[in-house]
Amino acid sequence: KQPLNIVKMKKYKQDGIPLSMITAYDYPTALLAEEAGIDIILVGDSLGNVVLGYNSTLPVTIDDMVYHTRSVVRGAENTFIVADMPFMTYHGSIDETLKGVRRLMQEGHAHAVKMEGGVEIADTVKAVVQAGVPVLGHIGLTPQSVNQIGGYRIQGKDAADAKRLMDEAKALEAAGAFGIVLELVTEEVAAAISKELSIPTIGIGAGRGCDGQVLVFHDVVQYASPYTPKRFVKTYGDVGSLIRSSIAAYVKEVKDRSFPAEEHVFNAADGVLDELYG
Ligand code: KIV
Ligand code: NA
Repeated sequence: KQPLNIVKMKKYKQDGIPLSMITAYDYPTALLAEEAGIDIILVGDSLGNVVLGYNSTLPVTIDDMVYHTRSVVRGAENTFIVADMPFMTYHGSIDETLKGVRRLMQEGHAHAVKMEGGVEIADTVKAVVQAGVPVLGHIGLTPQSVNQIGGYRIQGKDAADAKRLMDEAKALEAAGAFGIVLELVTEEVAAAISKELSIPTIGIGAGRGCDGQVLVFHDVVQYASPYTPKRFVKTYGDVGSLIRSSIAAYVKEVKDRSFPAEEHVFNAADGVLDELYG
């Protein structure tokens, strides 16, 4: 199976086939996401929140992204993989931006990069696309600007803001972005943008009119996601409870000496470990 590509994604939109995207940050998660049939994996800088334990995405570095992207690619070799450009790595010179992009592509082995912002980064998007790298836009609530925005606010609530978002989306399409993530945007505005553009929109908290949906892995499976359930998230499992109870059972069995049991121990008749590990 070949990974999806940006030409096929546009075709999906034309044919009305929704795109499914989920985040992943490591090999096992990527492996499972690919086996589950996901269209696109995002190595998001939400890494900072859900894996590294920071309270925002701001501390995430290019080094962090390269390291995690590599491990994701090893687990999902047949899936299209997008890596986030971290905070402040695409607002200096084009040269500096391209250095970071090169690392995500050439050392991280991503297929594309994602950048937050609209009109103000259009020239940057254009330069990266001209270098041969597909760019996924990201507008609406952009977590890297949380200190500027003043919190996690719904975007597009009045006519002026709706127009601003539409203008940003059009600027990104004109700059050559292959798609746009719409985060925390009112359903009406996200639907209007999706209709207007020929490239796919991928929504998170942006309603039913988007061309695809993205969620954070840890939220989908309830894997110790440190945040209270958000209204736009749907959880499909409770892996956190399963892990906690499994570890608790292990601790208990170590304490009461019921683990290791007869079947777990070696004696002189056993073979070499290589055979056991197969
Ligand atoms: O970093 C991330 O997980 C994201 C998605 C929420 C779109 O940017
Ligand atoms: Na992100």
